[in-house]
Amino acid sequence: MQQSAPDQSEIDSFAERLRAGAVAAFPTETVYGLGADAGNSDAVLKIYETKGRPRFNPLIVHCADLAMAEELATFSPLARRLADHFWPGPLTLVVPKRRDARLSDIVTAGLGGIGLRVPDHPVALALIRAAGVPLAAPSANPSGKLSPTTAEQVRRAFAGRVPVLDGGACTAGVESTILAVDGGTVTQLRAGALAREKIEAFLERPVATAPEGSPIAAPGMLASHYAPSALLRLNATEPLPGEAYLAFGPAPKTATSRLRNLSPAGDLHEAARNLFSMLHELDEGAARIAVAPIPETGLGEAINDRLRRAAAPRR
Ligand code: TXA
Ligand code: MG
Repeated sequence: MQQSAPDQSEIDSFAERLRAGAVAAFPTETVYGLGADAGNSDAVLKIYETKGRPRFNPLIVHCADLAMAEELATFSPLARRLADHFWPGPLTLVVPKRRDARLSDIVTAGLGGIGLRVPDHPVALALIRAAGVPLAAPSANPSGKLSPTTAEQVRRAFAGRVPVLDGGACTAGVESTILAVDGGTVTQLRAGALAREKIEAFLERPVATAPEGSPIAAPGMLASHYAPSALLRLNATEPLPGEAYLAFGPAPKTATSRLRNLSPAGDLHEAARNLFSMLHELDEGAARIAVAPIPETGLGEAINDRLRRAAAPRR
């Protein structure tokens, strides 16, 4: 499954296309992103059009390092501490946008805060460096659908219409954790690949969660999201007749022909890495997918968040 890493000439050619205003998909450690030059409104508009994404939903901007991020936003001492410690990595910081930032207004959907992160992936970092500009990039899936963790899933989702820089399968498998940092206050807007416990251990205090639907919450946190075509039934200790089963931990006695196990050993990192790929796979043939209970601790918070949105009534 793992492709050999793209060479520098391929990375350079993608960087050139991005500088010229194209959109292109690239790997990160969390999920594949659909990128464009964050300073070019026409290019950023193409992201919204390609995904069918509502315009009110802002985009995360990917930088090569903290210095690049500081050209776009003001970092409080606390925001800088978090960036120093967790970047590169699966943490997005929502911080006040600088007035003089070379940034399309559409990226932030008119909000005062901008979501920034430095991905922990050699291909993503090489691409941003070669492009020389920060890249706005949502997950590379049609709006509301499952996020892609392989280049093949991106190609399929957009029927080959989007060029994809193939860096193999993503190692984290769920999206970044999003924190809003307002001066000295930290609020978690989205659970993700950086476990809340790790942030709390570093800060030596609890981190509050933005209540669902509150004005401060990430606009993209809609109840129904990450939705496969199949219907999901959560906290299922075994499948009913006709259901595919997404297990976690030791395999259940009831065997269905459509069985995937997020982690036979009950490891949450492995489960996060497999989550979207296995949902993609089961979604191919099954109309209903039953999902085993997953503990709420560590990466379980992000996994359960994605599963609840995938199971929510569709609009
Ligand atoms: O791991 C990730 O975060 C991946 C990779 C590609 O970096 N990206 C990703 O982007 O998940 P997307 O667009 O699928 O989800 C971004 C979320 C949305 O819920 C959006 O509303 C929120 O981040 N967001 C982005 N900018 C924001 C801002 N300025 N203020 C509040 N929320 C923001
Ligand atoms: Mg997304």
